[in-house]
Amino acid sequence: MSSTDKKSEKKEKRGKASQSLKDAMGLYGYMDRYKHIFIPSLLALYTTAALSLAFPYFLSKLIGRSMTPGDGVTGATEAEIIANVNGIVLWLIGALLLQSFITYWRVRGFIKSGEGALNEIRRTLFSRMVRLPMNYLTEKRSGELSSRIAGDLAIMRETLITTVPKFGRMIVTLIGGLIVIFMCSWKLSLIMIGSVPIVVIAIAIFGKKIKNYSKATQDALADTNIVVEETIMGIYDTKAFCNEEYEENRYDSALEKFLNITVSGAKARAAFISFIILVLFSTVAFIVWYGAQMLAKGEINIENYIQFILFSVFVAASLGSVPEIMSQLQITSGATERIRDLIDEELEANYKSQSDSALVGSISAENLSFAYPSRPEGQVLNGVNFDVKTGERVAIVGPSGGGKSTIFSLLLGFYQEHTGELKFDGKPISDIGLESLRNSIAVVPQEVLLFGGSIEENIAYGKPGSSKQEIIEAAKQANAHDFITEFETGYDTTVGARGIKLSGGQRQRIAIARAILADPKILLLDEATSALDSESERLVQSALNTLMEGRTSMIIAHRLSTVRDADRILVLSGGKIEESGTHEELMAMNGTYELLAKTQLGD
Ligand SMILES: Nc1ncnc2c1ncn2[C@@H]1O[C@H](COP(=O)(O)OP(=O)(O)O)[C@@H](O)[C@H]1O
Ligand SMILES: [Mg+2]
Repeated sequence: MSSTDKKSEKKEKRGKASQSLKDAMGLYGYMDRYKHIFIPSLLALYTTAALSLAFPYFLSKLIGRSMTPGDGVTGATEAEIIANVNGIVLWLIGALLLQSFITYWRVRGFIKSGEGALNEIRRTLFSRMVRLPMNYLTEKRSGELSSRIAGDLAIMRETLITTVPKFGRMIVTLIGGLIVIFMCSWKLSLIMIGSVPIVVIAIAIFGKKIKNYSKATQDALADTNIVVEETIMGIYDTKAFCNEEYEENRYDSALEKFLNITVSGAKARAAFISFIILVLFSTVAFIVWYGAQMLAKGEINIENYIQFILFSVFVAASLGSVPEIMSQLQITSGATERIRDLIDEELEANYKSQSDSALVGSISAENLSFAYPSRPEGQVLNGVNFDVKTGERVAIVGPSGGGKSTIFSLLLGFYQEHTGELKFDGKPISDIGLESLRNSIAVVPQEVLLFGGSIEENIAYGKPGSSKQEIIEAAKQANAHDFITEFETGYDTTVGARGIKLSGGQRQRIAIARAILADPKILLLDEATSALDSESERLVQSALNTLMEGRTSMIIAHRLSTVRDADRILVLSGGKIEESGTHEELMAMNGTYELLAKTQLGD
């Protein structure tokens, strides 16, 4: 069976209403580590739920006995009644105290184990997410994945911490209450129970609708978040183009859509809840009325009558909470489904391979063709051939959008859907584990992203666990040491989203220091100096020269100065390597390279 078959079968199974509770309970698989807290909390929940029944029980006894002297035995004195009543009240107070004591621990326990389990889910999700294939991650709009996950987790949280305990309590009070009212009067009980099928039918009718709407609501909410994230990420352009209003309108229409779906969903939910309330309260009213007649005829005594009414209210309240609980479980089932799908998503294949040894550094491509899976009709590479020997410096030039960066993505194993051969040290890339492949390669991109943290941590990213000495040495070689020590806090200076902003050239040199630490066999420089002014280019270029020493390097560049010194230059155009050779050889050809050199490759 193929994985898509399996997936659709799973989806079908989950679609069933009966599956939603199971799905919600499936979350508890993540609670393994918290069993020792969760199970006692669950027992405490049942205990407090049972104890809550003591309240109507003692209350009805209290009222009943103050009216029926001496337990229905005529001739009890006033003093006897008072003593009796006092005794009951002490029991009642005792039950209440015990209940509140246990409740305290139960609530704490549920929160602790629930949040713990949620963290477990978050951890699993995150660890799966970062291992998803590039294709999956880049296909989604920015922010979609993260806001979706945040929304779904919030729903799960509500369920784990609030709804499931509510559900447990509901079951206990419902069953306990039904037993008591049956003992009071089976006739009245049958009337009460008559309302149960109506509730069940209502659940069947409204449940699916509510689930569908809640899923759509979550989607719409995620869409609004995407607008926010995209705007914040592109705030530079938004402001520069005075497009605040444009973005406002975009957000407005997303919000509008969200509201419309929510309101439509609310109709189903509101109808469900009000219908159930109507049924239950009518039932209770009917019972009180019918019971009063029985009381008048002497078919039931006052204590049982009061007990019956109080317990009926309890049972009705339990049944009344069913719509809320059920719709919450339906919503959760939608959220769980998506989280599960994400967890079930296939990870990057072949991450580790048995036969892995470090790469030496030669690269070759034979008839390499590739189209991005998201755009299968747009053939980016169309039969690319090249051969890079260990330690060689090879430059790639060509028109923008020609597929240069794409070649790097393929070398890093980001996409495995290519045809033709891509080999390292003569071994096909598919035989090399991604981990050892990527450990052997370092990339210096055009736009370096620094993580929130100190400069030291950012450099150490190239080789976690490096000593301070190694880090400083790498920074020196990368021409970064001087500007770093100019900061008051030096290597401890915080950079990234919440820290100081470094210039493009400074970030570039941090990336180079990272790469020096990583000490890779193969270097990929993707327009590493293209965005820099000439002064920082000089610093970065000399750092790069140090870095390239003794390593196989592939360099995508726009500047003649960078390209000229390469052992060989590949001209990528029309998805093929159109020309290849040294600068002098290519200039002599009077072909694409010469044209590029004259028009685009500025000095
Ligand atoms: N993740 C992606 N999904 C789909 N198409 C892409 C993706 N990345 C790049 N492309 C497309 O592939 C082509 C080559 O892009 P790229 O390799 O970045 O060119 P270069 O680096 O030579 O400027 C372009 O047409 C670009 O639009
Ligand atoms: Mg590029």
